[in-house]
Amino acid sequence: MDNRPIGFLDSGVGGLTVVRELMRQLPHEKIVYIGDSARAPYGPRPAEQIREYTWEMVNFLRAQDVKMIVFACNTATAVAWEEVKKALSIPVLGVILPGASAAIKVSSQGKIGVIGTPMTVSSDIYREKIQLLAPNIQVLSLACPKFVPIVESNEAKSSLAKKIVYESLAPLVGRVDTLVLGCTHYPLLRPIIENVMGPDVVLIDSGAECVRDISVLLNYFQINASRDSLLPNHQFYTSAGVESFQEIANSWLDEEINVEDVEL
Ligand code: DGL
Repeated sequence: MDNRPIGFLDSGVGGLTVVRELMRQLPHEKIVYIGDSARAPYGPRPAEQIREYTWEMVNFLRAQDVKMIVFACNTATAVAWEEVKKALSIPVLGVILPGASAAIKVSSQGKIGVIGTPMTVSSDIYREKIQLLAPNIQVLSLACPKFVPIVESNEAKSSLAKKIVYESLAPLVGRVDTLVLGCTHYPLLRPIIENVMGPDVVLIDSGAECVRDISVLLNYFQINASRDSLLPNHQFYTSAGVESFQEIANSWLDEEINVEDVEL
């Protein structure tokens, strides 16, 4: 047993889509979350800067005595996960491998689409991981740089969001049987994405998939939180926009949460 928290990091509110799934599947695990909304989006930034910012969040979480760190961000996973995982003695998880293997499992015709930030798409990491396991699968990747800003500004349900999603996804419509939401912000746009892609395309939420791996690792290292204790008080930190973070979190998580401002 280990009642220390699990640390989550993201460039902003996107990691909440991972956290929601964790709260559902593992309600006794305490969460410490850091979102770097002041510097979001990360996706268009150079790799070296993303690496530096990610390390700042990792060190922030380590100072909170976490027992595990989850990169609830595809962009940070693509750039810095391997390096951070090697450097730390606690387990460090990313969202890309779980998303890639889930897509392989459900793809009926071997045509997988991947949408993500410019960095995730240019790294080509999803294609690499998918084709390593299943070389015959075709991967079509598309960067959607307008999605993160619209989610961060709490406009995911607006008509502007609809317009942006329709226009951005047009090149993939009718060409894939499975679509990986390769950015943790994108599940907040899921109803619109579903509408655009149509009922025959299976959507994969890379963040939600990663919660299964969290559970496996907690069991493997025997570091589950005790189930006898009261439900934990989670702690959320953001580097900007506490109110907007709180609003998005309250509606997405369906519960009131504690959010504090922090300087990274
Ligand atoms: N949630 C991050 C991801 O999964 C968004 C990155 C960004 O800020 O551009 O990639």
